[in-house]
Amino acid sequence: MCGIVAYIGQQDAYPILIKGLKRLEYRGYDSAGVAVIKEELKVFKKAGKVSDLENFVGNSDTTGSIGIGHTRWATHGEPNDKNAHPHLSNSGNLAIIHNGIIENYDALKKELIARGYTFKSDTDTEVLVNFIEEIQKEEQVDLEEAVRIALNQVIGAYAIVLLEQSNPDRMIAARKGSPMVLGIGDKEFFIASDASPIIEYTKNVIYLNDQEYAVVHRDGRFTIKTLGNVEKSPKIQKLELNLEMIEKGGYEHFMLKEIHEQPKVVADAMRGRMSAAGGWIKLGGVDEYANRLNKADRFIFTSCGTSWHSSLIAEYLIEDLARVPVEVEYASEFRYRNPIITEKDVVFAVSQSGETADTLAAIELAKERKAMIYGICNVIGSSIARLSHAGSYTHAGPEIGVASTKAFTAQVTILTLIALQLAAEKGTITKSALRTILYEMEQIPSKIEKILLLDKQIQEIAAIYKDASNFLYLGRGYNFPVALEGALKLKEISYIHAEGYPAAEMKHGPIALIDENMPVVFLATNQSAYEKIVSNVQEVKARKGKIIAIVNEGDTQIKALADHVIEIPATEEILSPLLTIVPLQLLSYHIAILRGCNVDQPRNLAKSVTVE
Ligand code: G6P
Repeated sequence: MCGIVAYIGQQDAYPILIKGLKRLEYRGYDSAGVAVIKEELKVFKKAGKVSDLENFVGNSDTTGSIGIGHTRWATHGEPNDKNAHPHLSNSGNLAIIHNGIIENYDALKKELIARGYTFKSDTDTEVLVNFIEEIQKEEQVDLEEAVRIALNQVIGAYAIVLLEQSNPDRMIAARKGSPMVLGIGDKEFFIASDASPIIEYTKNVIYLNDQEYAVVHRDGRFTIKTLGNVEKSPKIQKLELNLEMIEKGGYEHFMLKEIHEQPKVVADAMRGRMSAAGGWIKLGGVDEYANRLNKADRFIFTSCGTSWHSSLIAEYLIEDLARVPVEVEYASEFRYRNPIITEKDVVFAVSQSGETADTLAAIELAKERKAMIYGICNVIGSSIARLSHAGSYTHAGPEIGVASTKAFTAQVTILTLIALQLAAEKGTITKSALRTILYEMEQIPSKIEKILLLDKQIQEIAAIYKDASNFLYLGRGYNFPVALEGALKLKEISYIHAEGYPAAEMKHGPIALIDENMPVVFLATNQSAYEKIVSNVQEVKARKGKIIAIVNEGDTQIKALADHVIEIPATEEILSPLLTIVPLQLLSYHIAILRGCNVDQPRNLAKSVTVE
């Protein structure tokens, strides 16, 4: 969480920083700030969004061709002006921006206070910058060495950039556990939490590895070293992003754009990886590990949030199709509960960002215990992707709306292909059944297109229920994880309390909540448990709950019972999550908009959770 951006070169830094911060706002939007140097070091910072910072800055002089910027997701200290970054050292010579948490900040702070330091904020970051300054003074060393000494004593996670007023031709950046990209231009450098603030200036980037730091100079020189002081010769990579991919493209919100991108996203996730006519599936990125994958005793999926929901779908898919036991674990629980992991296990990490701290730590643990790691990430070059032995990118393109939509459908597409490939390998699916499913997969993009045309109807339903205080989402089988994901989407962006449940579990608790004020969303497309779902719908109706049902086109039975039906094209049951989630995304979107919520930047959330 938190977005950082920095610039040194020949151009004015401030506009580059502000534009960059706007692109990084998905990482946190509690406060924003910049520091620039032109002779003197100036800091501007403000609680709220980047636009609040811009208003605050107004016509102040922000010139200077070196600067740092930060958009915050609060960890230590409230989201107010004084806790906003950048933070200055006591002498005013150093300014820092930081993404992450310094865990031993309290001990360091006490030590610094004993030495006469004072603090203006409640942040761990202000402790770090003063700790660096103290080392500079105490050890009589240059900033680079002071940073290295300090970071070797710091416990925690960070991506930091430092400016020094007395040396305005150099910037120092370091990372451990939080992402950082260095963009290399012509006598200019850009540093950011991801590549989005960099793409319009240069395509040449270096992804810093953990425990590395970069020293960049205005004359174009740069070095990258480990915190152990070993110089590295980094690989300069070419960015594949373009500007259009991170802009709204005519949509009012990123979330809506991303929902509408799903037909293409699903097609892209399948492209080159399968052919229905040929009856084959081929996922690259696995080659030398294919044997281990096919021989694995069990699969463990570890992930968070929406990615955990797609992992649950993987459990249904893989056990059903390939007959291999699957466990699905919240990364935050898995990493701390001393799980049993052996070298015969394959641990899948599913993560849009590829940077989620708990997921990263979970696979580090699994790797230590010799399991094979299979990463399913969206962000190319992300930490989880790099730590994995094998992997498949979801290729959904940048997802900017904080509530995940297209990344989910892309993950489910890849997970379906993995399950089918395993099944084909193990002989647990016949060739004709495989071909039937692959043909049907090829139809999914056009079926999503059809569902997107139901937008108006869904908006009308949203208008009826926008003031509800609670929602229940019920589904069975493959649609149970979709119920969880539908409820999560509503909670995240509309702040309505919503719960997802297996439809049959309703009678063990949630049924007590049902009255005439409770909207209940049923995912009722399943062919296998259809009659059972009909019974569940009856149970809700008997208690006067309001029923919104997602059904297959042409359904009559549930239509007769429900208050509203959203009819979607039928598909193979194992592929149904790829369709049933779409109306739920639209329903949450419209409810949130009608309630006046900020759908792209919901309160308290961040897209990339790089803290525990
Ligand atoms: C945050 C985001 C969610 C996301 C989760 C896991 O909570 O707001 O949308 O599902 O993190 O993120 P990951 O990048 O690992 O998929």
